[in-house]
Amino acid sequence: MTEAEARTRIEPLRRDIEEHNRRYYEEAAPTISDREYDRLYRELVDLETKFPDLVTSDSPTQHVGGKTLQAFAQIQHRLPMLSLDNTYSKEEVANFYKRITRLLPDEKIPVVIEPKVDGVAVSVMYENGKLKYAATRGDGVVGDDITQNIRTIKSVPHQLRGATPKVFEVRGEAYLDKKGFERLNQEREAAGLPLFANPRNAAAGSLKHLDPKVAAKRPLGVIFYGTGAVEGAKVDLHSRIFTLFKKLGLPTHEDWWSADSVDQILAAIRDLNEIRRDFPYETDGAVIKVDALEQRERLGFTAKSPRWAIAYKYAAERVETKLLDIKVQVGRTGILTPVAVLEPVLVSGSTVSRATLHNEDEIKRKDIRIGDTVVIEKAGDVIPAVIEVVQSKRPRNATPFDFLRHIQGKCPVCGGEVRRDPQFVAWRCENLRCPAQATRRLEFFAARSALDIESVGGIVADKLVERGLVREPLDLFELKVDQLAKLNLGSDESPRVFGEKNATKAIQAIERARMFPLSRWLYALAIPDVGKTTATDLAHFHETMEDVATSKPLREVIAYHETKDKQKAKEIAERLIKSGFAEPSKSKIDKQRGIVTKVGPVVAKSVLDFFESNIGKKILQRMKQLAIESKNEKVSAKKMSELPLAGKTFVLTGTLPSMTRDDASAKIEALGGHVSGSVSKKTDYLLAGSEAGSKLGKAKELGVKIIGEKEFQRMLLSC
Ligand code: IVH
Repeated sequence: MTEAEARTRIEPLRRDIEEHNRRYYEEAAPTISDREYDRLYRELVDLETKFPDLVTSDSPTQHVGGKTLQAFAQIQHRLPMLSLDNTYSKEEVANFYKRITRLLPDEKIPVVIEPKVDGVAVSVMYENGKLKYAATRGDGVVGDDITQNIRTIKSVPHQLRGATPKVFEVRGEAYLDKKGFERLNQEREAAGLPLFANPRNAAAGSLKHLDPKVAAKRPLGVIFYGTGAVEGAKVDLHSRIFTLFKKLGLPTHEDWWSADSVDQILAAIRDLNEIRRDFPYETDGAVIKVDALEQRERLGFTAKSPRWAIAYKYAAERVETKLLDIKVQVGRTGILTPVAVLEPVLVSGSTVSRATLHNEDEIKRKDIRIGDTVVIEKAGDVIPAVIEVVQSKRPRNATPFDFLRHIQGKCPVCGGEVRRDPQFVAWRCENLRCPAQATRRLEFFAARSALDIESVGGIVADKLVERGLVREPLDLFELKVDQLAKLNLGSDESPRVFGEKNATKAIQAIERARMFPLSRWLYALAIPDVGKTTATDLAHFHETMEDVATSKPLREVIAYHETKDKQKAKEIAERLIKSGFAEPSKSKIDKQRGIVTKVGPVVAKSVLDFFESNIGKKILQRMKQLAIESKNEKVSAKKMSELPLAGKTFVLTGTLPSMTRDDASAKIEALGGHVSGSVSKKTDYLLAGSEAGSKLGKAKELGVKIIGEKEFQRMLLSC
């Protein structure tokens, strides 16, 4: 491959990886298996190794994990929180051990092998034995403050037992156990909410839930496997932390192995594989770590990971089955995604009858034909994928799959025109009124990372569109409680209505969405090419949605890339740099272009095109009519502070006569107030019902104003 070829491959590869990172870390909803992700990532690493000039500082290979979520306070890790190198190959594990033996010659290097828990990395800080704070890994340097949510996990002690070090930061993996995961998904299905793809996503979603009350209901656990910053204790061998952690009351691994040769390591990996399915949590591999901390120090780190550890991942389970048909699904932007309909087969403990086929090119590349026997793969509870065709079992009459013919040249849902998007490998339904698109857009609009209208997902979104109550997401703002309460989520024969209580909750969440900042709104509108990062960037430079629609910087970005006039390009570049929308380019590849803009020309065009389209224009007009004036963060923060209960903290206790605590909380939050779980000096009101517990005593003690439901209702009326 030439450098020029590598360059053209690297760009879409990075875009893909970033998109998968976003889905994984920000939405906790990945669409490809770990293995496929690793394949993409490996390809990028290989290209960058071969052509180091093409490495840019924003390449996904140069940063760890996900971005932190804005809604959480941020915590800077005292010591960076790094990730591990992953491998699927035993040979690489052997190479790992050989490498460290070379780096530390003539020394015995004992290692520990322990389960790799498939969850979310967390850090918990104890000071003088007291739980001080907890954080996610974030980008490795700064993470989200998830203290409140971690505190709801029963197995995580708030106070360490026995003699406790002054500073003791422990790191581990938070997980949702297998049973809890199944229960949670059953509940979500019943409530018409979208299902989590696997326990890890469910754990990530729970930990990052802005409402600790929700996290508290999820059966989370943590396995601690290491320390971060420590003062007042000496940990010299990793193998000692298991007993130390237990003594302090911290949950940790029960099963682990010691080894000091490649053979022993591989034997331990095999042993673990024999027993790991019986663990209550998902595991996806073995972690091999040098035991002595002193040796670790001498081995040191690479940019992203330590040289003293490696993670071996067990291959996902693969089985053969028959491809019965290929169905085509329509996504929110009209993208048509082929899905394999399979003869049901048991893989990794669950029956699989569908698998993703990604896109037309992927089907062509693997030459997948209906009637073929295919190998499918499933890791843990991840969405299964078709890996390859068993050629020897191909029926004689199987014909190559022709995507366009298969869908008879039109959208399988609405019959509208389809077009192959030149930029992507996908076909798209061009009809913006396509009901499948309407449903997906609505789900997206209401998703947690967008406008967080929890009750409007899955079946509810489906039915709202099907029953004609919602055609476009903005229709939500015209729904009435009674309309929604009567919504039939079942069938005509066996109706099941949404109900008054759910409807009220949904309407409150919808109303609350009005106040959300511009970045969330921009993201929620599902503008082609606008992901979370772009939405945040755009919101940073524009005050309102209308400003984005007529954006000068975006027009200039396009002009800059289109003009042949060097002088003009220079002038535009200067203006863009001055406004902060562009930076002078540092990397070699961009040198010819001179600047790096916040948003590239393709995205800029996509945004402007969207707002110039009839749909875009209508959205702006509708938002105006509905008096939704989403402003950028600074402005909307001010607006939030103008809400009647802004700055007021409420604590709820006991049973209220006519409303649930959730309803009361929703009302308080909708009016800008804050609901806390415990009474402190900062509490403004304790809303107390019958059988109020210890919070009442504490409130009295601290002189906090205590109100009952009647007074609360009066307060709401006067707001
Ligand atoms: S040690 C410096 N031990 O897997 C790295 N990590 O794929 C310290 N993980 O980032 C990590 N089980 O989030 C370690 N027993 C274990 C683990 C484990 C799961 C996670 C962790 C890590 C990722 C690497």
